[in-house]
Amino acid sequence: MQRPEKLDLQDYLKQQTEQIQQQVGNNRVLLALSGGVDSSVCAALLSQAIPGQLTCIFVDTGLMRLDEGDQVEEAFAGKNLDLIRINAEARFLDKLRGITDPEQKRKIIGEEFIRVFEEESAKLGDIPYLAQGTIYPDIIESGKEGHENIKSHHNVGGLPEDLAFTGLVEPLSLLYKDEVRVLGTTLGLPDYLVHRQPFPGPGLGVRCIGEVTKEKLDALRVADAIVREELDALDASPAQYFAVMTDTYSVGVREGKRAYHPVIAVRAVDTNDFMQAEYVQLPHEVLNRISQRITDAVPTVSRVVYDVTSKPPGTVEWE
Ligand code: XMP
Repeated sequence: MQRPEKLDLQDYLKQQTEQIQQQVGNNRVLLALSGGVDSSVCAALLSQAIPGQLTCIFVDTGLMRLDEGDQVEEAFAGKNLDLIRINAEARFLDKLRGITDPEQKRKIIGEEFIRVFEEESAKLGDIPYLAQGTIYPDIIESGKEGHENIKSHHNVGGLPEDLAFTGLVEPLSLLYKDEVRVLGTTLGLPDYLVHRQPFPGPGLGVRCIGEVTKEKLDALRVADAIVREELDALDASPAQYFAVMTDTYSVGVREGKRAYHPVIAVRAVDTNDFMQAEYVQLPHEVLNRISQRITDAVPTVSRVVYDVTSKPPGTVEWE
C-alpha cells in the first residue's frame, strides 16, 4: 500500500481499525511484543480495535538489553493483554554460533523469531493472524516499494516463505516513527514507553560485531546500560544512543599487566525520521565519564571510542 501525501492520524487510526476488524473477524491475533515503541503502540492499537482477541508473546532472545525482559513484563503487568514470556536465549545463541555476516545474522534472528511464534501459537490453539509493529522506514529500507535494499530489517526481510499464519496484521506500516509516538499517546500509552528510543528487532545481535557470544553480550549489556544512564540524564537526550561491542581487540594495561581485550564503541545520533541522522557532539566530560565507568565496570573491555559518523554515509546501527 502506498503512503498518502498527507496523513491524518485520526483518520489513519479509524481506517486501520475498520480494516483490521474486517481482516481478522472474530479470530485471535498473536503479537510479538518487544516492549519497544513500535510493538507497544501496535499492542495498544490492536487491544482497542479488537479487544479480547489479542495475545502478546514476548520472546526473550538473549539479545535484549540489561534487565529488559523483566521491565517489559512489569510494564504490561495488569494491562488488558494476554502476555506470555518465552526464554529462548539458548536457541538463538545456538543458531548464531560461528555466524559473522551481518545480513546472515539478521536473517537467522528474524527466522528464529518467527519459528518461536509458530511453536508458541500452536500451543495456544488456533491463532491464525500474526501482528507486527513494522513501520514505514522498515519497508523502505528493506527494498520494498521499489527502494534499494540497505539492510534486511528483522520484521520484513527475515520472514520465511512457509509462514504458518493465515495473514499478517501490520497497522503501523505507513507511519514514520514520530507519527507512531503521537499515535501511542493518543492511545493512552505512558510517556516512558512512547518516548523510548528505538531498539532494532535483531537486538544486540547487530550491536555485537562478529560472532555473537554470551560473554560478549553480557559485557555489552553493562556498557550499554552505562551509556544510556549517562545520556538519559542530559537535559536534551539524543534521539538514539547505545554501545556497540566491536570485534577489534586492543592492548591495554590492567593492574600493571598487559591486557588484550575488545573495544567498545559509543553511538549517539540525532534525527527526525531515522532516514538521515547526525552524530551528537557530546561534551568531553560526558564521554570521559562514560569511558571511565565502562572500563571500571567491565574488566574485559580494553578501551572506549566514540563514533563520529553521520547517516549517510554511516547507518545508525553498525550492522
Ligand atoms: P539504520 O541502522 O538502518 O537504523 O540507520 C535506522 C533505525 O532503525 C533501527 N533499526 C531497526 N529497527 N528492525 C527494527 O525494527 C531492524 O532490523 C532494525 N535495524 C535498525 C535503528 O535502531 C535505527 O533507529
